[in-house]
Amino acid sequence: MSATTAAVTEKSSVRPIEDYLSLGEQELYDRIQAAKQKLGDRVVILGHHYQRDDVVCHADFTGDSFKLAQQAATRPTADYIVFCGVHFMAESADILSGAHQQVILPDMAAGCSMADMAGIEQVESAWEQLQDLGITSILPITYMNSAASIKAFCGRHDGVVCTSSNAVPLFDWALKQQEKLFFFPDEHLGRNTGVKFGIALEQMAVWDPRLELGGNTPEKLRNARLILWKGFCSVHGRFQARHVDERRAEYPGIKVLVHPECRYEVVAKSDLNGSTEFIIKTIKDAPAGSQWAIGTELNLVNRLAKRHTDKFVTLLAPDLCMCATMFRIAPENLCWSLENLVGGHVVNHIQVDGETAQWAKLALDRMLAIQ
Ligand code: 13P
Ligand code: SF4
Repeated sequence: MSATTAAVTEKSSVRPIEDYLSLGEQELYDRIQAAKQKLGDRVVILGHHYQRDDVVCHADFTGDSFKLAQQAATRPTADYIVFCGVHFMAESADILSGAHQQVILPDMAAGCSMADMAGIEQVESAWEQLQDLGITSILPITYMNSAASIKAFCGRHDGVVCTSSNAVPLFDWALKQQEKLFFFPDEHLGRNTGVKFGIALEQMAVWDPRLELGGNTPEKLRNARLILWKGFCSVHGRFQARHVDERRAEYPGIKVLVHPECRYEVVAKSDLNGSTEFIIKTIKDAPAGSQWAIGTELNLVNRLAKRHTDKFVTLLAPDLCMCATMFRIAPENLCWSLENLVGGHVVNHIQVDGETAQWAKLALDRMLAIQ
């Protein structure tokens, strides 16, 4: 028996993560591959585009959050879905996968600071305050980057989930259902999408959950077509309008391509905006010699620069725009979770409670049906 095989079969008790922290790069790579091989079709590894290279190289499927949700919903043969991404994505995978499947997040601390900006009690209180004002012709719509409880809230109130790749068709659907939308938790994606529908900035109100009526007058809320939760992505929030000007001055003719989680002023100045999947496709299809400044997460931008050496690809901002929580998924904890699966132990199991999952699934299924 080779050393690698012994490493994944010897012990039957749960292996502690500490056993993995001092392993070298090559050993981790080999052991991850060996564990994958042993598990065969029983495991599927999903990897978000912001994952680091030494993790994403092990993924069976990569994608943006929408594509990965679709993958989770259509892989019934795998007993285990190992999600290399963040907590809300793993929760959605659990909700969309079958009852016999188990979703694993290699590091439980891989959360999303934006998703944490909307708590269910805050959302329920905001909804009640709007109802008390007589605002009832309103539909809740949540970005995928939210807790399962918020998705369930949308399911209960005839609302829906959207991602950055389908926000436009979902807004289109939602605006045909109700006069007003309440969008959580990303103020910027909400505003950028609302503008695409011709909703004027004055017809948008921002809801700050720390303040009574979200910091608005009753009149402002009654007149608003779009109420935006005051939440943002700390990574995309770092891109500023001046970075667009600076890059254009530095590289005349450069095209600016950004994620719609960037603030409105940045998106308005850019040439193109779209989800991580859109960004990848745009660079892939761009002509050789073209120049691109990209406003999204660093790991993805670096990968695109390495993959497309016939084009010039650079980060839009000069400082590091890295998602620290995505980065928490490392070869060490991926190897740890896979080898424990080989040993019959499910570690870091993500499980949404039955009632929440049922309502959240309704909102997610509405999204999947509207594509
Ligand atoms: P995508 O849906 O484009 O993958 O984005 C997810 C995300 O978290 C971006 O910050
Ligand atoms: Fe959340 Fe921003 Fe990281 Fe995406 S990049 S997971 S929105 S913190």
